[in-house]
Amino acid sequence: MPHSDHIHYSPSRVTRHMRQALLRQRAHLFWFTGLSGAGKSTLANALQVVLHEQGRLAYVLDGDNVRHGLCRDLGFSPEDRAENIRRIGEMCNLFLDAGVICLAAFISPSASVRETVRDLVGPDRFSEIYVRCPLAVCEQRDVKGNYKKARAGKIPGYTGVSSPYEEPGNPDLLLDTQSLDREQCLTLLLEYARPLISIAREIPVGDYEQSAEI
Ligand code: ADX
Repeated sequence: MPHSDHIHYSPSRVTRHMRQALLRQRAHLFWFTGLSGAGKSTLANALQVVLHEQGRLAYVLDGDNVRHGLCRDLGFSPEDRAENIRRIGEMCNLFLDAGVICLAAFISPSASVRETVRDLVGPDRFSEIYVRCPLAVCEQRDVKGNYKKARAGKIPGYTGVSSPYEEPGNPDLLLDTQSLDREQCLTLLLEYARPLISIAREIPVGDYEQSAEI
């Protein structure tokens, strides 16, 4: 709830449907969850490149990056992680309203916060992509060197080591990065994403009646 009773929502005359018609795409949030080092950002970025080449407006939102700006005041306590995801969810909601395809790569370790985002943006515009990789493999990769530090006690509450990760029970798409390589994951992602982001037919820009159908 707002902190003041004196805030009034001002509706926009240009709607999401009109922006989607302009961009010739349906906005959708692809939410990549998984352990650090599982490949979330790599896959989100690879998908972004292909979508861009296909003429689609897509944008990657990534934990490490967002924590340098919007969420720089947050740490990794359960409360801060929940607030991190709440802010990202709200930001994705605005991006979706702008007609943009969102590729969000966040550990988002708790099932309940992931559900909060799904509820916020609406289930038909949200897909949970579980980028699955065993902890031992993530630790072996240790691209950022964080697992080594976490094992040495230098990073408290590290996901998978000293803080829990709740696996998605029923993800919309499961990508096992231990057994599949980047290209195989990308193929599966593109196959899955295509019908969700495509519009059934061209709608002339400015045809506001028809754009409501997108
Ligand atoms: S989340 O849990 O709040 O969703 P987020 O995806 O934003 O996490 O950030 C994860 C990134 O922060 C990791 O890729 C890692 O580089 C870094 N990081 C720093 N400290 C931690 C920690 N205690 N647990 C997990 N990741 C951490």
